[in-house]
Amino acid sequence: SESENHGNQSSSDDVSQQLPSREGWSEPLVLYKNYWLRPRFASTIARLHNNFKPRHDDTILASNPKCGTTWLKALAFAVTTQSRSRYGNDLATDHPLLSRHPQELVPFIEVPLDGDLAQLEALPSPRLLSTHMPLSMLFPDTTTIASRVVYVCREPKDAFVSRWHFENRIVKGYSVGLEAALDMFVEGFSPYGPFWDHCLEYWRASVASPDRVLFLKYEDMMAEPVMHVVKLAAFLGVPFTAEEEEAGVPEQVVGLCSFDTLSGAYRTGDFVRRNGGVVLEKSVFFRKGKVGDWVNHMTQDMGSKIDRVVEEKLKGSGLVF
Ligand code: A3P
Repeated sequence: SESENHGNQSSSDDVSQQLPSREGWSEPLVLYKNYWLRPRFASTIARLHNNFKPRHDDTILASNPKCGTTWLKALAFAVTTQSRSRYGNDLATDHPLLSRHPQELVPFIEVPLDGDLAQLEALPSPRLLSTHMPLSMLFPDTTTIASRVVYVCREPKDAFVSRWHFENRIVKGYSVGLEAALDMFVEGFSPYGPFWDHCLEYWRASVASPDRVLFLKYEDMMAEPVMHVVKLAAFLGVPFTAEEEEAGVPEQVVGLCSFDTLSGAYRTGDFVRRNGGVVLEKSVFFRKGKVGDWVNHMTQDMGSKIDRVVEEKLKGSGLVF
């Protein structure tokens, strides 16, 4: 029988043990439906396919890891909160985002808090959920997307550098060199990789169904955050009213969800969710929050290794970075 509980699952029904596995990152990754996953996510996702029931009014925030998930969660939470205008000039004092981490406020489908899918079932509609799953893994049995999906993507070199830092921080005693990590990344071997396939699936869906899939880029959002917040609210069916725009609510949301505000809201040593048994420090989700930081870590030659493969893989798709 299916156990929905992450913790007490017998190893015989654990799909991850039967999958091809490869070492290099902080733990060996397994190849599941053409993507490299941490074994515990592969196990949960396999069970999810029997248990998770999407709803027509779900909003799913999707991303490749390290591409702005935390930021998008904060923005979507802020604009869909019933009382978004209530905070008015007081945004800085008592908004839930200032005391609870965006990663807690918007649960991952594949990492429900405490590993219990019943928790997702129990959430009232409309649900705000998130995932790192590629589209083909999220809705394996259908080509039509029932829910609304917002995808955030990021320039691959910056995403890679962010991944590399994260990987070296999350597991004590593990470290990987930048060159070694780069070689794995350009082979498509990284958590939830190949990176480009992940982007392409959502990109194509957004081209085919723009009313269902909103495709955002981290860099564009950084350049014009207010415009993107307005766009996001409209897409999510909760457009800002003229009054709200007049009162500067979109600007307040941008300020509330900014890197400085959110990263300043935690102290070292604050922890976030049990991630399949792993406890992460809240601060690991906030490093630098800058566009183009890759140049501070990689040579041009290293950068072009990523550019070459990404260009080749995205050729003809219309998606460019
Ligand atoms: P860097 O490592 O380049 O700083 P994710 O949330 O998908 O794990 O992505 C993490 C990246 O987003 C990190 O990038 C992190 O610093 C950045 N980030 C987190 N919160 C942010 C915010 N509010 N605004 C902009 N960037 C943010």
